[in-house]
Amino acid sequence: MMKLINIAIDGPAGAGKSTVAKKVASALSYLYIDTGAMYRAITWKALQEKADLNNGEQLGQLLESTKIRLVPDEKGTEVFVDDEEVSAAIRQNEVTRNVSIVAAHEKVREQMVEAQRELASRKGAVLDGRDIGTAVLPDAEVKVFLTASVEERAKRRYEEEIQKGMDSKLDAVIEEIRRRDQLDSTRLISPLTKAEDAEEIDTTQLSIEKVVQQICRLVEERVRAT
Ligand code: CDP
Ligand code: CDP
Repeated sequence: MMKLINIAIDGPAGAGKSTVAKKVASALSYLYIDTGAMYRAITWKALQEKADLNNGEQLGQLLESTKIRLVPDEKGTEVFVDDEEVSAAIRQNEVTRNVSIVAAHEKVREQMVEAQRELASRKGAVLDGRDIGTAVLPDAEVKVFLTASVEERAKRRYEEEIQKGMDSKLDAVIEEIRRRDQLDSTRLISPLTKAEDAEEIDTTQLSIEKVVQQICRLVEERVRAT
């Protein structure tokens, strides 16, 4: 049997992380762990509870008493909060607008990082997020940092939203992505940044398949070398 490793995929919104992470996981029969969905889930819960999103202490306590479950399915991941299925609800604009504020709190990140390490502890996992290669799994055997121009990333998101029947405007999506990039990369605790030993792939001009192939090649090389 091939040696199992962990794969960290980080980068800003719309770079293609979750799409390629799912495909890489499926090609290798690895577990896909969508860490962004976990931050979205606690944000959804905090909004439901009308919690103060600027109060890290309160959000930390809320997270301690909230059960977040990721269940792999053929499309990717089903997300449950206290046994309620919230996979679609956590993609709504209100969650997207607030998730970076919730995710900046130390009391929230500590618990999330611990849960994510536990999920990846048996190896054979692909995690995508913002701080996987730098903070969650600094020893991940393969680290990838995906980027793309802000216009291209916004266009991808906009097209997804239109397909879902949402009433989106491209300019508003560009603004929202810029704002989230800014919040995620300037927060004090494990901001979005490329790990020194991560392979950077600019996907602006690349197809999903090309990106998946590049990552699978990195995995093969790494497994062969160990
Ligand atoms: O898919 P998209 O890029 O829109 O976002 P996501 O991966 O679902 O992540 C949503 C938000 O969660 C990000 O904008 C970050 O604020 C936060 N996040 C994080 O702080 N650390 C992670 N490992 C993953 C997500
Ligand atoms: O997870 P992240 O926010 O980084 O991005 P995503 O949700 O995986 O990708 C956003 C959209 O871009 C999806 O609809 C993908 O199909 C599309 N995409 C693309 O067109 N070309 C790529 N090389 C990667 C993603």
